[in-house]
Amino acid sequence: MNIPIDEVVEALVKSKYAIALTGAGVSTESGIPDFRGPSGIWTRNPEAERRAYEVYSLFLRDPRRFWEEYLSTSSILESYIEKAQPNPSHFALAELESMGVLKCVITQNIDGLHEKAGSKNVIEFHGSIYKLRCVDCGARYPKSDFNLIALRDEGKLPPICIMCGGTLKPDVVYFTEPIPRDVIVRSLEEVRKCDVMLVCGSSLVVYPAAELPRLAKRKVPPALIIEVNLEPTPITIEGISDYFLQGRTGEILPKIADGVKKKLMS
Ligand code: APR
Ligand code: ZN
Repeated sequence: MNIPIDEVVEALVKSKYAIALTGAGVSTESGIPDFRGPSGIWTRNPEAERRAYEVYSLFLRDPRRFWEEYLSTSSILESYIEKAQPNPSHFALAELESMGVLKCVITQNIDGLHEKAGSKNVIEFHGSIYKLRCVDCGARYPKSDFNLIALRDEGKLPPICIMCGGTLKPDVVYFTEPIPRDVIVRSLEEVRKCDVMLVCGSSLVVYPAAELPRLAKRKVPPALIIEVNLEPTPITIEGISDYFLQGRTGEILPKIADGVKKKLMS
């Protein structure tokens, strides 16, 4: 399939403020399964997805019981993430940032691989498995700062915010949980500023993340939407994407980064 890499490279080099929105598809080549692809976590286990919709209401009802269940069950996703390293998809986006072309990555992923690959301006739209967040003041802490097992054994769950005494939860945003306000404000500001949006490795079925490319497209003038994905998505079908580069992000994004590097050096 002839992929218009040159046109995409041209658009990125000419852009004033290019940003990226990424999903689980950019981390599958690091060994982390996605959710809705052919061998995704939800594809293989729809019951697990149904249960995932109940987690946040348990936390709201009974934070102590939430934490006891959280600590007694190992998350499939977390076991994959702990072993994972960045792949060429992440490194290509980090390189585009270091060349001054890509200004921000808004990621739906909770695996921290964009920062591990060197990206600096990353917005974790669905939070991070490596952090805890206060539901009262929004403060975030490294999860490793807390000995959660000891807190459980001493009957001191849920963990308490050092800043305000509020209740801490994992920073990961659960289904039905609102996206933290600071994340929404920062993300909308990035979308407002962008003239190009790279949308990589997402099925774009989960809102409000899936709204971001649509918002970018509705701007006047509209941002240019460049989609890189193994399969067409709603924004491909609705014509929101100006370019649809079908294939692996681990193969396509490095080609784009190389093309931009060559152009900037010529
Ligand atoms: N290269 C390109 N695309 C890929 C690759 C790859 N190597 N691997 C998978 N994909 C595609 C899949 O075909 C699919 O279209 O990436 C997309 C991943 O979609 P999802 O699994 O739905 O992941 P995502 O869009 O990030 O899900 C959004 O849903 O479960 C929640 O909170 C979770 O953040 C997640 C949100
Ligand atoms: Zn607090």
